Amino acid sequence: MKGFSVISDSPERTREIGCLLGGLLQKGALVALIGELGAGKTCFVKGLADGLGISDNEYVRSPSFVIINEYRGRTPLYHIDLYRVNNEEELGELNLEDYIYGNGVTVIEWADKGILSSLEGFIKVCFSYLDEYRRKLDFSGDGLRKDILTRLKALVSEV
Ligand SMILES: Nc1ncnc2c1ncn2[C@@H]1O[C@H](COP(=O)(O)OP(=O)(O)O)[C@@H](O)[C@H]1O
Ligand SMILES: [Mg+2]
Repeated sequence: MKGFSVISDSPERTREIGCLLGGLLQKGALVALIGELGAGKTCFVKGLADGLGISDNEYVRSPSFVIINEYRGRTPLYHIDLYRVNNEEELGELNLEDYIYGNGVTVIEWADKGILSSLEGFIKVCFSYLDEYRRKLDFSGDGLRKDILTRLKALVSEV
């Protein structure tokens, strides 16, 4: 299975889909989120936190100045937002390899800012803005990630 797409018609639905994915992830998982401002990436991360059993997920937000937030759940969630990262040098200074594939689940907003080319083994979610309340989510992944996506697709079509 190469991947699948789903249309979300509300923020609640996007959060629910994130939750379903969070429930399937094990430590070491990496999720790369791509899409314009307002496309729903942070909304999805809130759901991912729900699915990992994180209780303080009302605090999940796109950090203004802090680029990495850490939340405690079934496994730690490292929430990274590269919106404010301008170049390769700044990216290097973040030492993201300390988080990625480590002791928790890592999710990266604006993952297309120069980091994907140096990584492999991740689930990619591309968000497209359709209209005020509708977003298209395109899921793809390689290797082991395909099994997770197959299960996610089944769960998403059930509810
Ligand atoms: N189907 C939807 N999924 C996600 N967000 C939606 C949806 N419809 C409307 N929205 C709104 O779009 C905005 C998405 O914001 P956010 O998740 O912070 O985006 P991003 O992190 O991609 O910049 C929120 O204000 C949310 O209420
Ligand atoms: Mg965001």
